[in-house]
Amino acid sequence: MIRLQQVAKIYPLGKVEARALDGVTLAIGSGEFVALVGPSGCGKSTLLNLMAGIDRPTSGEVWLDGERLDCLSDDSLARLRRSKVGIVYQFFNLLPTLTARENVALPLLLNGLKRREIEERVEQGLQRVGLTHRAEHWPHELSGGEQQRVAIARAIVAGPRVVLADEPTGNLDSVAGGAVLDLLDELHQDHGQTIVLATHSQEAVRRAGRIVHLRDGRIEELKGP
Ligand SMILES: Nc1ncnc2c1ncn2[C@@H]1O[C@H](COP(=O)(O)OP(=O)(O)OP(=O)(O)O)[C@@H](O)[C@H]1O
Ligand SMILES: [Mg+2]
Repeated sequence: MIRLQQVAKIYPLGKVEARALDGVTLAIGSGEFVALVGPSGCGKSTLLNLMAGIDRPTSGEVWLDGERLDCLSDDSLARLRRSKVGIVYQFFNLLPTLTARENVALPLLLNGLKRREIEERVEQGLQRVGLTHRAEHWPHELSGGEQQRVAIARAIVAGPRVVLADEPTGNLDSVAGGAVLDLLDELHQDHGQTIVLATHSQEAVRRAGRIVHLRDGRIEELKGP
């Protein structure tokens, strides 16, 4: 589902350069649940952003569901991202001027779906994360855990094959974090979604079928199948 071949990402910083990723080769199969772990600054977020097509590698190849992302135009990348990838962030990134329902609807509006279909799918999405009763709330009226569940509904509402999550429990207490991990687990188990999660949390790592250890932009160790 995701394949990286000798991927490097280098940020020029004046005379020096930051090697965020340095020759990463990795394949993630359809339906896998992978945890990316490693010390702060090792390249986890950079790697997720490349998989999401939010960012481009300095060199190397990035493949997602049979398409080579590093060669696509910005427009094609945006389209592919909207249909195939759902992204969840540490700080939720809900739009503060939209209700929970409207936040979840946003990707479908961008995809140009019909109103009826949008309403149905949004309803299902909110149901899936157990927040039907909070649909008309603004983000600031929701707890952190609820905001993150809305963000998960938004990430999955378009039916992406891949869900990428960057420290999704990093800003939550253990109960709310556990609920978020339960949801990701469910997506993986019941819907066969491919999940890649960057995390510092032991609890999150326990859920994963495979753990990828990064250090200084390189893969240190591969565990599991
Ligand atoms: N836009 C940027 N410009 C310059 N350097 C960057 C940029 N983004 C990331 N880096 C550098 O690349 C390296 C990897 O950063 P990244 O954010 O991927 O780490 P991380 O593993 O996600 O860390 P954390 O656990 O703290 O989130 C770091 O050294 C960082 O300073
Ligand atoms: Mg990060």
